Amino acid sequence: MTTVLDVQRFKDDGRRFAVLTAYDFLTAKILDEAGIPVLLVGDSLGMVVLGHPTTLPVTLDDMLHHAKAVARGARQALLVGDMPFMSYHASVEQAITSAGRFVQEAGMHAVKLEGGGRVIEITRRLTELGIPVMSHVGLTPQFVHQMGGFKVQGKTDAQAAQILADAKALEQAGAFSIVLEGVPSQLAARVTKALHIPTIGIGAGPGTDAQVLVLHDMLGLTTGKAPKFVKRYANLAEEISRAATSYSDDVRKGTFPGPEHEYSANGSAPAKDREEVKYGPG
Ligand code: KIV
Repeated sequence: MTTVLDVQRFKDDGRRFAVLTAYDFLTAKILDEAGIPVLLVGDSLGMVVLGHPTTLPVTLDDMLHHAKAVARGARQALLVGDMPFMSYHASVEQAITSAGRFVQEAGMHAVKLEGGGRVIEITRRLTELGIPVMSHVGLTPQFVHQMGGFKVQGKTDAQAAQILADAKALEQAGAFSIVLEGVPSQLAARVTKALHIPTIGIGAGPGTDAQVLVLHDMLGLTTGKAPKFVKRYANLAEEISRAATSYSDDVRKGTFPGPEHEYSANGSAPAKDREEVKYGPG
């Protein structure tokens, strides 16, 4: 099983690694079996699965529900649960309780928190208590209203210096890795050089130790235009639409179900016709 020590070793050995988001049992199982070493149950769930315009409406209960499903599907990957908006903002105690639920109830191995500032102390307390923390700086979607939209961060010298300072303080507080989202490539490379822990980039160029993408974006399982930083490795939205249309045509024409999809009456039925009726991934 991949641990936080392994991801540190990846950086120490100069081995880049891939991180993907996962939100359900089956995709977690597929990604885990494909050898993705770190799976993030991201609060992007709110946007790509639940249909919200931002991640802000996502609740701790939403996250735990999906995290539990991911934990049932994955065997090898390091599982990271994303702490949603307002699950760690009120106090350090609230953060400990929320993070504890990710580990104790949902089977996560670590949690992710957005931001520096007050989150630095929360990071220190969680790691002291044995809950590994993945940090997240730069474009932090839970700050969407403060940023005035989903905008690239760290373009000015002052912003870049703040991001670097936050990253160093989060490392100092015990974070085992840090997501750098939506920042100029040069800044991401600079932060990566300055830190001992691995950096995980998204929209941060090629100079980080790892990359993360939202699963639905890289699978082409979205209806809108993908952001510039996304590479599409499949076009599942088109594939699903094509399959659904063919199925509908078959039903209308009466060509589905065919003889191979039928059951016979019991009694004289051959063994293959007495098989269990079962749905799902098996
Ligand atoms: O919620 C999420 O999926 C994330 C990643 C984009 C890093 O935070």
